[in-house]
Amino acid sequence: MSKILVTGAAGFLGFFIARQLASDPNNLVVCVDNFIRGENDSLYQELTSRENVQAITADLNDSAAVALLPDDIEIIFHMAALNGTQNFYERPFEVVRCCTLPTMHLIEKYGPLNTLKRWIYAGTSEAYASTVTRFGWEVPTAENVPLGIDDIFNSRWSYGASKMHGEIATVNGCRHFDIPFTVVRFHNAYGPRMGDKHVIPDFLVRARSGVFELFGHEDTRSFIYAEDAAKATIALGYADGAKDQVVNVGSEDEMTIRDLGYAIMKAANLEGEIVLHPSPKGSVKRRAPNISLLRQIAGYEPEWTLEEGLKKTAAYYLQDSEEA
Ligand SMILES: NC(=O)c1ccc[n+]([C@@H]2O[C@H](COP(=O)([O-])OP(=O)(O)OC[C@H]3O[C@@H](n4cnc5c(N)ncnc54)[C@H](O)[C@@H]3O)[C@@H](O)[C@H]2O)c1
Repeated sequence: MSKILVTGAAGFLGFFIARQLASDPNNLVVCVDNFIRGENDSLYQELTSRENVQAITADLNDSAAVALLPDDIEIIFHMAALNGTQNFYERPFEVVRCCTLPTMHLIEKYGPLNTLKRWIYAGTSEAYASTVTRFGWEVPTAENVPLGIDDIFNSRWSYGASKMHGEIATVNGCRHFDIPFTVVRFHNAYGPRMGDKHVIPDFLVRARSGVFELFGHEDTRSFIYAEDAAKATIALGYADGAKDQVVNVGSEDEMTIRDLGYAIMKAANLEGEIVLHPSPKGSVKRRAPNISLLRQIAGYEPEWTLEEGLKKTAAYYLQDSEEA
């Protein structure tokens, strides 16, 4: 059996990754979370009650707790972080803490053990968003874009800077301990269980009380459904061509937030006028990844259309569906 550690497994992407991994009976999946954001809901309970899944509640900011994790792990999908735009503004120091300390403690624990065949780090487009905005870098954006943050005094960048640290810690920590690594740079994944601090659930939660409101409606993004993001991540975790690489995971279908709003309303059968607001300070105007490398290395093609993904997400947030 292959023993795999998924950190942040009670969160959004970690859950989908852990569940896809657990569907293979040859995998033993160790799920770790401290529930600072993720939930011990019925979906997580169903996952962690499976025979080939072990759940551990641990705060990865605490090196003593990390030391107690199982030693004989072959692959780590390190998804734990404090994500969500509202958190960047409201509790930036906690964001910095949760996006840096776990990475360091995990590499320091597993590096010397010589059991790891791959370390997969969850990077983010936020680590280069400023470069695109300030220097007009090409969109769709490839992996060789310079990373950077616009303004250290704007707490929004607590996240982007800490995740940039994670990429640097991954490259240098894994080289130091001779561990093959992959940085998976995620771009706007969405789906059930993603919390309420991202544009899609935020819109749906307001829609429950008949309010249709969007912020930054002229900004553009592209959206990948969670099952597709998890499939791509796992494929990269096993692909030889992804060793010691940074690879974008996302969708190339760039759209305005306004058009996203209309697509959500159509998918969810909602009717009404959307009230459009400008972007908050420091907001990123354009974002979409070039995913040629992902296609080439992992043979990736999306399985979910935006409409299908939005329907599933809307059912979860509007109808209290417990499906994901
Ligand atoms: N969702 C996206 O679109 C997106 C985009 C870019 C990057 N990412 C990255 O992908 C990863 C997963 O993102 P997500 O959206 O699933 O986030 P999420 O907040 O849903 O999940 C992260 C999980 O990590 C857990 N966690 C945080 N700090 C912890 C700690 N100290 N100890 C143990 N557990 C801890 C949280 O409780 C949560 O369940 C993150 O690293 C994030 O930075 C996500």
